[in-house]
Amino acid sequence: MEKQITIKYSEFDSWKELADSEIKMVEKAYSMCEQAYAPYSNFQVGATVLLSNGEIVSGNNQENIAYPSGLCAERVALFFAGANFPTEKVESVVVVAKGELVPFDKLLSPCGSCRQVLMESEMRQNKNIRVVLVSQNGRTIVFHSILDLLPFAFGN
Ligand code: THU
Repeated sequence: MEKQITIKYSEFDSWKELADSEIKMVEKAYSMCEQAYAPYSNFQVGATVLLSNGEIVSGNNQENIAYPSGLCAERVALFFAGANFPTEKVESVVVVAKGELVPFDKLLSPCGSCRQVLMESEMRQNKNIRVVLVSQNGRTIVFHSILDLLPFAFGN
């Protein structure tokens, strides 16, 4: 029997259409981009994470001459949150990027490993995480659960 699943998301022409609290997260993510250490890919990524206590933690990609030793912005931010605020829930995550690796008008989307880590947070806290992806031209996609980005996830 053939079956289908539906992926739900919202789309905006610009991140400036988001709520004020998320606009602040996008602005912070952009400033994190500027501090990324990405000399090998020249692709700078910034991520912000809103926690249930209102705290916003952030990260950016950190590369290494031994390529696999580097880490994506999302995981830098999420692991910082887990290390420093282990009892707080992750409410939402914003990701922005700068560089030629992804065309300006294409959806900026987290890699599979970051999706798996987001999934762990969502399962661990038993609460959906909002994932806000801002393409380089400002187009914004909002997912309401990581399940929509990682259907049939391992462990779910
Ligand atoms: N990168 C991220 O930081 N997040 C993603 O979702 C995808 C890729 C980083 C990893 C590496 O430093 C650079 O972008 C190129 O892949």
